[in-house]
Amino acid sequence: MIEFRNVIKRYADGTVAVDDLSFTAPTGEITVLVGPSGCGKTTSLRMINRTISLTEGDILIDGESITSQNAVELRRKIGYVIQQAGLFPHRTVLENIGTVPKLLGWDKDKRRKRSAELMERVGLDPKLANRYPAQLSGGQQQRIGVARALAADPPIMLMDEPFSAIDPIVRQELQEEFKRLQSEIAKTIVFVTHDIDEAIKLGDQVAVLRVGGMLAQIDSPADLLRHPTDDFVKDFVGRDRGYRALSFMAAESLPLKPCDDADGHPTFKKSDSLRFVLDQALTSPHGKAICVDDAGKPVGQTTQAEISAYATERLQD
Ligand SMILES: Nc1ncnc2c1ncn2[C@@H]1O[C@H](COP(=O)(O)OP(=O)(O)OP(=O)(O)O)[C@@H](O)[C@H]1O
Ligand SMILES: [Mg+2]
Repeated sequence: MIEFRNVIKRYADGTVAVDDLSFTAPTGEITVLVGPSGCGKTTSLRMINRTISLTEGDILIDGESITSQNAVELRRKIGYVIQQAGLFPHRTVLENIGTVPKLLGWDKDKRRKRSAELMERVGLDPKLANRYPAQLSGGQQQRIGVARALAADPPIMLMDEPFSAIDPIVRQELQEEFKRLQSEIAKTIVFVTHDIDEAIKLGDQVAVLRVGGMLAQIDSPADLLRHPTDDFVKDFVGRDRGYRALSFMAAESLPLKPCDDADGHPTFKKSDSLRFVLDQALTSPHGKAICVDDAGKPVGQTTQAEISAYATERLQD
């Protein structure tokens, strides 16, 4: 668990980058810091591994202040991934991934083995092992950046816009893979992005910061979409927040009307999200979607209008 307690960062020129920031990043979860450019995301992240010092307040890791720990020891527990991966250009993929293990004095065999294992984990073809970063795509480089940060199996990962320089399609792939990876490794992750969609997709909780480094709101993605605290958050989360909130609502208690058979209409199950159900209804020429049970037997029907009405009501809870 990482705890920010009333953290303030004032740079030498007087700029207050982070102002009285308090929040907790729970163990084994992804906490996303999101906000406009210059709101202090990178500064907040780098204070955790002490590559930037804090001015006031404290940051605790599992109850222990970072200032009472040796900075080198501290960084050993913390993997760090940055935009454009920050790979060493004159080192091969395998050597890049093995950077920290080498610093830790692991022998060559152990390093190779670990690097190969991590390449597989992050979805990289083992054939790429001896290439140099310049011979790889942006998406491949980012995967190596993630593998390198994981090499010594640190309990904490700090990620600063790791996917933002990647084109949208590959970016989505990386996000999906990253979620799957995290479900296996369960690291304590602080993830920085300026992209609210990415924040909502990846975060177990999302902290929205405003310029000046103040916390506007910290909540689960669903609550952030449903209950933005003020106009700033509302604007930042965007106008289609209602639609996006549907991803987090199950179709479980959606009222259904009787129907006889699916009759070629798009179908859904009660366990699907309302967003899926609405998308299904939208693909039907009659705006209708049929709910089926696990055996594929129709149990009822709904329409676009009914789904919207139900969702609107739920959003107002
Ligand atoms: N070394 C520095 N000296 C003075 N001010 C700085 C320094 N580094 C950053 N700042 C300022 O602190 C504020 C926060 O910067 P920071 O890099 O943390 O923002 P950010 O949220 O990561 O922005 P971005 O989304 O553009 O990466 C900005 O106003 C920035 O100009
Ligand atoms: Mg930044």
